[in-house]
Amino acid sequence: MFILEALFKALLVISSSPCSLASSSASTQQSALPTVNLGYEIHQATFNESGQYYNFSNIRYGAAPTGNLRFAAPTTPVTNIPVFNDGSKAVTCIQASPAWGAYTVAWLTEGLAAFNISAGYQPPNITTMPAQDPTASEDCLFLDVMVPKNIFEKAGKSIGAPVPSAAGLLRASQSNGKEGVIWVAMNYRLGVFGFLSGPTFQTNGTANAGLHDQRLALEWVQNNIAKFGGDPNRVTVIGESAGGGSTMHQITAYGGSKGKVPFQQAIVQSPGFQMMPSAKGQEAVFQKFLSTSGVGMVQEARGLSTEALQFVNYKIVGESFPYGTFTFNPTVDGDFAPALPGQLLLEGRFDTTLKIMPATTLTKESPSWIPSRKTSPASKPISASTSLP
Ligand SMILES: *[C@@H]1O[C@H](CO)[C@@H](O)[C@H](O)[C@H]1NC(C)=O
Ligand SMILES: *[C@@H]1O[C@H](CO)[C@@H](O)[C@H](O)[C@H]1NC(C)=O
Ligand SMILES: *[C@@H]1O[C@H](CO)[C@@H](O)[C@H](O)[C@H]1NC(C)=O
Ligand SMILES: *[C@@H]1O[C@H](CO)[C@@H](O)[C@H](O)[C@H]1NC(C)=O
Ligand SMILES: *[C@@H]1O[C@H](CO)[C@@H](O)[C@H](O)[C@H]1NC(C)=O
Repeated sequence: MFILEALFKALLVISSSPCSLASSSASTQQSALPTVNLGYEIHQATFNESGQYYNFSNIRYGAAPTGNLRFAAPTTPVTNIPVFNDGSKAVTCIQASPAWGAYTVAWLTEGLAAFNISAGYQPPNITTMPAQDPTASEDCLFLDVMVPKNIFEKAGKSIGAPVPSAAGLLRASQSNGKEGVIWVAMNYRLGVFGFLSGPTFQTNGTANAGLHDQRLALEWVQNNIAKFGGDPNRVTVIGESAGGGSTMHQITAYGGSKGKVPFQQAIVQSPGFQMMPSAKGQEAVFQKFLSTSGVGMVQEARGLSTEALQFVNYKIVGESFPYGTFTFNPTVDGDFAPALPGQLLLEGRFDTTLKIMPATTLTKESPSWIPSRKTSPASKPISASTSLP
């Protein structure tokens, strides 16, 4: 998720008149809702009356990463004639969870009795996939923009106290009479769709495509946020857990070799990702992907149906082993991530003009996947031979 501080209200590009591509029979209320012309898309907001903010949901920021763009770096939307989008079609990226997740709640609530520690954890053999979230799509490079009405249209006043949600954060940002912030949250590709890597894969695919998606969304913010009343020179990236791990990778992108990153501040909360610097480990995951998919090369996997790949992702992530691992993570790829983020920070290989606020609460999350490994001699820690160079 990303937060933008608002400044350039004068740069607003708003049409409050009915969009010409909208049905002429649109109701009065619909026509009163603002639209923003992004060039490739005319996007209409909804309005949260009690929160007093415009909700621009499901805005496309990348072309569909399908066909030859599958396993490739994302590209900008291509439409020449702007399409009309009222944000009502919800879109998520295809995702899956490790089967060991079923035990984590038991660990936390019932303690050691929940699990036969000496038997260790054995992953299931997954052969079928239950019905999945109907909003899940391969064409998922969309983001949301929440803008306080006073920022989008005119200055307003403080309207409430902080609570942890997009709506609550907007309210908190407006406390004590402050103008407030714009909230942007984006999707990015996950699992086999966004995090394949390794020497063989990289001869014909882009490693860490999911990190490239995030970067494209940040560049979208630079190019478009002024149209919503935002200031591209005052962008703060916030990430928690895997989001914190992603934020570390965005801060250290390309080892700082491409100059300034497309944001100015970062709040890194309990960053988490399982380190995968080793080409050997990355290759092992890719080979497992090939054998599970029944194909011999990346280009062949581009021809598989979305449904087939969704099952492959469900199976590989579901069978993640040992306990506590996720299989797909940001990896050291020699390009976007030339080394582990911690090493790049240590060597000063990042945009040093950034203001960064890090915070960690290890106890909040780690118990879910650490106890069995800590207490069971039969359950091996993540294999050092695959996770380290
Ligand atoms: C609308 O705003 C109110 C007030 O901030 C908030 O409580 C509510 O959750 C918001 N609605 C949605 C759908 O987020
Ligand atoms: C726990 O697993 C061990 C090793 O497989 C086995 O010998 C033992 O009987 C199991 N204990 C229980 C209570 O199931
Ligand atoms: C998983 O189940 C399938 C279908 O029953 C079987 O063909 C396969 O050999 C099993 N794999 C393992 C590792 O047990
Ligand atoms: C924004 O609108 C979408 C689509 O109607 C809705 O699902 C979502 O909860 C809204 N979010 C907020 C923060 O109001
Ligand atoms: C992958 O290989 C195919 C055919 O073998 C080629 O057309 C395509 O350009 C390659 N893509 C990349 C990203 O190297």
